[in-house]
Amino acid sequence: MKVGVLTGGGDCPGLNAVIRAVVRKGERHFGDTFVGFADGWKGVVENITLELNVERCRGILPRGGTILGSSRTNPYKLPDGPQRVHQTLEANGVDALIAIGGEDTLGVANKLFQEGVKVVGVPKTIDNDLSATELTFGFNTAVQVCVDAIDRLHTTAESHDRVMVCEVMGRHAGWIALYAGIGGGAAQILIPEEEFDINEVAENIKRRHEKGRYATIVVVAEGARPKEGTMAVASGEVDAFGHARLGGIGNQVAEQLEKLTGFETRVTILGHVQRGGTPTAFDRVLATRFGIAAIETAHDQDFGKMVALRAGEIVRVPLEEAVAELKLVDPELFEHVAVPFFG
Ligand code: F6P
Repeated sequence: MKVGVLTGGGDCPGLNAVIRAVVRKGERHFGDTFVGFADGWKGVVENITLELNVERCRGILPRGGTILGSSRTNPYKLPDGPQRVHQTLEANGVDALIAIGGEDTLGVANKLFQEGVKVVGVPKTIDNDLSATELTFGFNTAVQVCVDAIDRLHTTAESHDRVMVCEVMGRHAGWIALYAGIGGGAAQILIPEEEFDINEVAENIKRRHEKGRYATIVVVAEGARPKEGTMAVASGEVDAFGHARLGGIGNQVAEQLEKLTGFETRVTILGHVQRGGTPTAFDRVLATRFGIAAIETAHDQDFGKMVALRAGEIVRVPLEEAVAELKLVDPELFEHVAVPFFG
């Protein structure tokens, strides 16, 4: 079988581990050959291919990023985009395509499947916001990066008795903020799913500091939104999938908190540090399991599916179901595990 592989969307620690597993199992077990497409759907639209075999995958397991490159190209936004995808796949004799990506990349994969492309999806995103899978690889690494950073912020916050606002990724879903906030002992966590009132946050912090010198960590997801009329927020540019470029709410929260509490406040925006570097062992294992399952799915001719983790097992779910809706933080979970530690 000739198998095409691409990685699309924001990169994520563990992508190389998936590629390696797909290629190792494919080449050694099934006798497959591979073609890598450069920079996500861009490489398929423009027919930019990369060599992909076991030799090329040597040493990539612990490496962050993706050896195939990535982009946020959406073929459905380009003139003749889908048609060019079909042409490229045919020109390269691709029997099956493995698309590794998040909601956008897999949304495209699903549309192409409806048009007859033999595609299998692998869920990827540090945001962990894909429904149909309990976890995506990259999330565990991102949370660990955040918790390490928060631990460091704690000691400097204690020395100066300051409020530290730590902005983390998560445009629609607050999973990273929630886990990093709980794991890092934050005094307040602001997530996109729960609009916040900056005045209430300030009151919590004031109460906390009345008890003495008390370093405060506020974790804020980049997509966190204030309740209407409570605080002005800036809006940014939009990408090919219509997502606003975020990053900056932390500064606005910090500025307001300093004003409202009178406590010196500093802000740290972790940004792409969360996505770079080596994956945790957990993410390497999950990515490897997904990769093996993906090539097996292709060999079973079970196209239009995404591999997923459910109750510890790797299962196959229809792509259509996988991209139907985002997995958001359940308000009850937030109330139960996060709110008791606020203030
Ligand atoms: O989708 C993953 C993600 O890391 C989001 O958390 C974040 O909003 C976005 O990508 C950032 O995208 P870019 O790398 O294009 O700035």
